[in-house]
Amino acid sequence: MDDPNHPYVMTLKPGRYVWCACGRSQKQPFCDGSHSSTNMRPMFVEITEEKQVAWCGCKTSGNKPFCDGSHKKLAA
Ligand code: FES
Repeated sequence: MDDPNHPYVMTLKPGRYVWCACGRSQKQPFCDGSHSSTNMRPMFVEITEEKQVAWCGCKTSGNKPFCDGSHKKLAA
């Protein structure tokens, strides 16, 4: 499995996205339902226009679900 402690930068079409908050999803950065055995829940995000976003992969961002650079403070 690749290191999840980085942002997932992608260009998105308008729509509803479900960001994985628990870190267990195998479809990062999106939810695959793996949180079901935890008390965590995914975050629903409405994207209204096509744009590039940087989803947080490390799950420690202060601006969830988007990367704020906090992953740089984590040990490699
Ligand atoms: S991936 Fe950058 S803050 Fe989490």
